[in-house]
Amino acid sequence: MRIVLLGTPGAGKGTQCKRIVARYGLQHLSSGDILRQQRIEGTELGEAAQTYMDSGALVPDQIIVEMMVDAIKKAPDVGFILDGFPRTVNQATELSKSLTSANQKIDAVINLKIDDQVVFQRMAGRRSCPQCGAVYNIETIKPRIEGVCDNDGAKLIQRPDDSNEVVANRLETYHLQTEPVIDYYKKNSSTVYDFDANKDAEEVSALVFVKLDALADG
Ligand code: AP5
Repeated sequence: MRIVLLGTPGAGKGTQCKRIVARYGLQHLSSGDILRQQRIEGTELGEAAQTYMDSGALVPDQIIVEMMVDAIKKAPDVGFILDGFPRTVNQATELSKSLTSANQKIDAVINLKIDDQVVFQRMAGRRSCPQCGAVYNIETIKPRIEGVCDNDGAKLIQRPDDSNEVVANRLETYHLQTEPVIDYYKKNSSTVYDFDANKDAEEVSALVFVKLDALADG
């Protein structure tokens, strides 16, 4: 299966991707995680992305498309789930071109919809593991021991782009530049599944699995 997961910042894309990957064995390709790893490693790409990410703007298409197309080419035959990419219509068009040239296509688009005010609450409570990337929330999805990752015992951190001001910019960027990607997929006859991501994470996963189970069987 080749899946695109779209949604507002904080809609739960990373959270749902980890569950989908555990169930279907797909490769998780998160543009945000790849960029953050490049920044930790201090690469040229990481440095180029830094100012955009810190302000809540999008990293230029050319950089992102090259990075993600390269990652997709290395994905296993079982398939992949794209998290945070494509985020502009231009990125979606370039992705389609690249897949077509490899005789591939996107099988389904999952769109997580959530109210903006819920996003601010979730971002304020988000804590992430710097080692394994696990995502928690101090209100809704708590680790077993406060401030410590369940998987590897690492101290949980807050993302620097989760301040209220940057979250507001990320939401504006999303509505202006990323929402049109949903229409792009609807017009290009891809199967788009909308989910109410205001619901709790278990409930969202259960609804997503119903659709993906049918796709996997089909
Ligand atoms: P990226 O890392 O992709 O950030 P994002 O899209 O803003 O998404 P988030 O990772 O913030 O949220 P999420 O939807 O994964 O939610 P999560 O599961 O963590 O991008 C960061 C930056 O990189 C961008 O601003 C941009 O600069 C750059 N970038 C990345 N891709 C790019 C691209 N394609 N083009 C250009 N630039 C790009 O959940 C959030 C919180 O809520 C957590 O605490 C979680 O525990 C909790 N939670 C999740 N689900 C639920 C639920 N159902 N109920 C209650 N709590 C929940």
